[in-house]
Amino acid sequence: MLDAKSPPSSLPLPIPLLFLVPLFSIAAVGFASDYACQELSTSCGKVTNITYPFWLANDTAEPVTPCGYPDFMVICRDNYTPILSLATDNYTVTHIDLDRHIISLADADILGITDACPRVRHNHTFLTNSSLAYAPSDANLTFFFNCSDALTEYTVPCLPHAVGKKSFVLTDELIESNSSVPRNCEAVIVAPVLKDYLDSSLKYGLANLYGDLLHEGFEMS
Ligand SMILES: *[C@@H]1O[C@H](CO)[C@@H](O)[C@H](O)[C@H]1NC(C)=O
Ligand SMILES: *[C@@H]1O[C@H](CO)[C@@H](O)[C@H](O)[C@H]1NC(C)=O
Ligand SMILES: *[C@@H]1O[C@H](CO)[C@@H](O)[C@H](O)[C@H]1NC(C)=O
Ligand SMILES: *[C@@H]1O[C@H](CO)[C@@H](O)[C@H](O)[C@H]1NC(C)=O
Ligand SMILES: *[C@@H]1O[C@H](CO)[C@@H](O)[C@H](O)[C@H]1NC(C)=O
Ligand SMILES: *[C@@H]1O[C@H](CO)[C@@H](O)[C@H](O)[C@H]1NC(C)=O
Ligand SMILES: *[C@@H]1O[C@H](CO)[C@@H](O)[C@H](O)[C@H]1NC(C)=O
Ligand SMILES: *[C@@H]1O[C@H](CO)[C@@H](O)[C@H](O)[C@H]1NC(C)=O
Repeated sequence: MLDAKSPPSSLPLPIPLLFLVPLFSIAAVGFASDYACQELSTSCGKVTNITYPFWLANDTAEPVTPCGYPDFMVICRDNYTPILSLATDNYTVTHIDLDRHIISLADADILGITDACPRVRHNHTFLTNSSLAYAPSDANLTFFFNCSDALTEYTVPCLPHAVGKKSFVLTDELIESNSSVPRNCEAVIVAPVLKDYLDSSLKYGLANLYGDLLHEGFEMS
């Protein structure tokens, strides 16, 4: 159905982001020739099929000329890791499912380290301006760092904590069903994860498995 060799403007819209169309025509002004776009590779590392509205920038060629929606530029870092920048943060693209209209992402900071106890450093703030939205397959994990609170459950002992303080990770269900959420914390960070993985991890203890969940990433549509 989708032929990666066609010029982007003649492709059927593969994603129900029809409101992208006006933006896309504005962006088209700065487009490289169709020929240059056809020359671009569509795979990077394990991710193949990086096609409209996403496009793989050739970071060896300067300056980068857009061959798709500019915000959906994917850079192939080290010729192996596809990176999508949203707002100020970088996300590793782990999969693109054109049929489901889904792109799977993981926080590039987290994926880049092998620490079993990674520290989530930022909220995902891109949603306000992005054409992408969280997929229904996502759920939130909330991290509470360095809390001076009497809660004893849901602690993450492996995170560095100040003397007398603890860090916690809770699901939305736990937060909603229980009024004793951690208080007096130095930082609170919300991170999206895949709901199915979350549900199947719960019985093994979130504190041990949240790193795996973060590595699995989340989906946007
Ligand atoms: C980038 O361009 C160079 C030279 O045109 C080409 O050899 C290389 O395969 C391109 N890389 C990608 C990721 O398209
Ligand atoms: C790319 O996507 C098309 C359409 O979904 C599919 O037919 C094709 O097999 C995919 N190619 C690769 C290399 O995944
Ligand atoms: C969203 O766009 C507005 C206006 O362009 C900008 O001021 C704001 O910083 C952007 N927010 C994010 C999270 O990128
Ligand atoms: C995101 O990736 C780009 C390209 O690799 C890099 O220049 C930029 O500094 C990265 N941003 C952050 C916040 O890591
Ligand atoms: C997760 O939290 C963000 C805001 O932090 C919210 O926009 C989003 O809807 C939440 N997702 C779910 C599945 O509750
Ligand atoms: C919590 O406190 C420890 C020790 O002071 C510190 O290393 C760590 O960065 C703090 N975490 C956060 C999220 O502020
Ligand atoms: C709320 O959490 C506290 C401590 O973690 C626990 O003792 C209590 O049973 C929980 N209450 C409910 C309604 O889940
Ligand atoms: C992250 O988002 C949560 C919920 O939206 C908010 O309570 C928290 O203050 C935010 N943290 C930072 C560091 O912005």
